Amino acid sequence: MSKKLSTKPLRGMEDYYPSDLRETNWIIDNIRDVADLYSYEEFESPSLEPIEIFAAKSSDELVNEQSFIVEKKKGEKLILIPELTPSLARMITAKRQELKKPIRWFSVPTCYRYERPQKGRRREFKQINMDILGEDSLYADLEIFNIIVDIFSEFGATSEQFQIYYNNRRFIDSVCELILNVPKEKIPLVYKILDKADKMEDSEYEKYVLDIFQDEIIIQGITKLKEATSLKDLLNRFEDISEEFYGTIGYKELTSFIQLLEDAKISEYCNFSPGVSRGLDYYTGIVYEVFDTGKENIRSIFGGGRYDDLLTLFSDEKITGTGFGMGVLMFSLFLKTYNLIPEEIREPDYTDTIYIASINETVSGYALKLAGMVRGEDFPCIVDYRFSNLKNQLSKANELGVLIVLIIGPKEMEQNEVTIKNMKTEAQETIKISSLIDKIYDIIDESAL
Ligand code: HAM
Repeated sequence: MSKKLSTKPLRGMEDYYPSDLRETNWIIDNIRDVADLYSYEEFESPSLEPIEIFAAKSSDELVNEQSFIVEKKKGEKLILIPELTPSLARMITAKRQELKKPIRWFSVPTCYRYERPQKGRRREFKQINMDILGEDSLYADLEIFNIIVDIFSEFGATSEQFQIYYNNRRFIDSVCELILNVPKEKIPLVYKILDKADKMEDSEYEKYVLDIFQDEIIIQGITKLKEATSLKDLLNRFEDISEEFYGTIGYKELTSFIQLLEDAKISEYCNFSPGVSRGLDYYTGIVYEVFDTGKENIRSIFGGGRYDDLLTLFSDEKITGTGFGMGVLMFSLFLKTYNLIPEEIREPDYTDTIYIASINETVSGYALKLAGMVRGEDFPCIVDYRFSNLKNQLSKANELGVLIVLIIGPKEMEQNEVTIKNMKTEAQETIKISSLIDKIYDIIDESAL
């Protein structure tokens, strides 16, 4: 016998059987409802892009180590998108004259990252993105925070179960420049250190920081940033902070944002966290990650932030944006941890399906005609092609949980009739097909009482 091929998908990839997909679609549909409430419009972009649009401003690690690269032609490198934001920037820039700003868009792309598969992380994954572009004010960032809170609330999650941990890159810049005296060109390295800190052992972290900055004061300062739990706590850890620091855009923007969150009454869901900096290079302002507050799911569920310069990759015109990406898998793990997915979501629902059982094959044409009629009225319909043994056909309908079965035989066909059976009450009657649709509605209405 020849060797059989494996039925397993590739490592880090997942098959979605109908019950898995029902659950995923239920999650995405609920989030679409929130997107609608905020007037975000859905868009799509290709899965393959030129590598350059990610190489410039995403992150070296993401592009060089974690991406699937396709080289079909010499000198042409294509990338299976590891994230969506550069494609969004490309699309918006292409139509920047005609699009009315602010632009509120969302999308549910499949992304690819060559990562070690682990809980909540795959090599192929669905990521919900919502972004607002062309709105400079902090109200745009606030809107995104409100959307995140509404998404969790839509599923019944509470502030005890999730938190948005945020920071501001301009604030990190101010701390680096005016408190730690980090040379300007080295500030992006501080973002990197902060982003990597949580993913490293202590000894590995110390070596990593020491290799980059040989300066003890800077190293201690970065550790203070990483460990502080509030703005007050952070500032208390440094002596002699200059007045100039309090006048910086970074400080002012952060404190205004903290106030906005309070005024919007969503502070209980949000935590200023100076150690958050995000791994992508294009962020410039408010940045955030959302985590489960419990111990079950340790990786981020949402990640996002403001990017002021990403669109300048494609044109000189500057359009700012802010938004998030959310891993559907990570979110579903979170929901499962707190029992927020109703079990029946995974089960198919055949209650509205009309099942056609035929006594023998001579009526097959009539069965198909009735099926067309029923589907024409938007009722799902299954025709049993066994055309024999009525008992078996009825028991199959019962197994599926169908409410209405149409039974037909030569007599019904001759008279243009159909026998309609209510599987719940077991009542059945033979009627003219002209009154079939009304009868179906009657039975459905009755059963809903
Ligand atoms: P990110 O932090 O790289 O940001 O990804 C956002 C979310 O995508 C993560 O929090 C996680 O839920 C999910 N995710 C990331 N990698 C994987 C993976 N390998 N498997 C499953 N889920 C994953 C971005 O991608 C930014 N482009 C988000 C953004 C939108 N920023 C502004 N607008």
